[in-house]
Amino acid sequence: MPILIDGKKTSDQIKSEIAARVAEIRAEGGKIPHLAAVLVGNDGASQTYVGAKVKACEQVGFESTLVRLEDEVSEEELLKVVEDINQNPAIDGLIVQLPLPKHISVEKVTNKIKPEKDVDGFTPANVGRMTLGWPAYVAATPYGIVELLKRYKIETSGKHCVVIGRSHIVGSPMSILMARNDYPGNCTVTLTHSRTKNLPEITKAADILIVAIGKPEFVTADMVKEGAVVVDVGIHRIDDSTKKSGFRLIGDVKFEEVAAKASAITPVPGGVGPMTIASLLYNTLLAAERKVFQ
Ligand code: GUN
Repeated sequence: MPILIDGKKTSDQIKSEIAARVAEIRAEGGKIPHLAAVLVGNDGASQTYVGAKVKACEQVGFESTLVRLEDEVSEEELLKVVEDINQNPAIDGLIVQLPLPKHISVEKVTNKIKPEKDVDGFTPANVGRMTLGWPAYVAATPYGIVELLKRYKIETSGKHCVVIGRSHIVGSPMSILMARNDYPGNCTVTLTHSRTKNLPEITKAADILIVAIGKPEFVTADMVKEGAVVVDVGIHRIDDSTKKSGFRLIGDVKFEEVAAKASAITPVPGGVGPMTIASLLYNTLLAAERKVFQ
């Protein structure tokens, strides 16, 4: 059996490390980290995610503010809310939950967030800093994956890392982080996407395979090399009448058959997913302690 890379256990560990640091800050009379989350509209998944982020803040002793806005809010009003938070010295970190309604430009809103408070790591300033290897807020999913590889002591130097998917928030930053001159990193990286030809040939050459394509059970055993490390970023709900909820969660990787060949693998659920909140908390702590932008 492969090593099961347990994101739930690791994120709990990180949360308790952060809680311990907050207790120290409190004892020193320092600034308690404060995250503000802006949620527009009533999308069910977004409400769940933001609710989980606010709850996690409470768990580690952070302060949090949730700003809820109507679906019909104008772009101008949303930009004003972001600017007010930018200017508010009580708030260290700011996230605007995505997706936004169609009449609002994600680019304009993202670009309005002060890079010093951009704990999602979505602004051009933070993406640029990360790319240059400067201190930066790294987006939650890539940061969570890097942290899992580190804490499970996965060897990366000189390995061939294949990333499937080139999104701005997962595939593209993952390819940059795995190629950087650091640990985890120093990989030879291949970034693949929807136009890639002969994908199975490429994935079969991967020592480390990072799958963020957004298609349920896309990666099958015949696409994976014996002994590969497999990281599954996908999460999909599928109907399952045997479950009380009526559904179960699966990833972008056909877990059972791929696990039989892998040396280490992240499950879904309980792999990359739980790490994203830990990453957000970690970035918020960095923001409060002014560790990224001095
Ligand atoms: N929507 C889905 N994932 C994220 C995330 O990491 N941050 C924000 N702001 N919105 C999201």
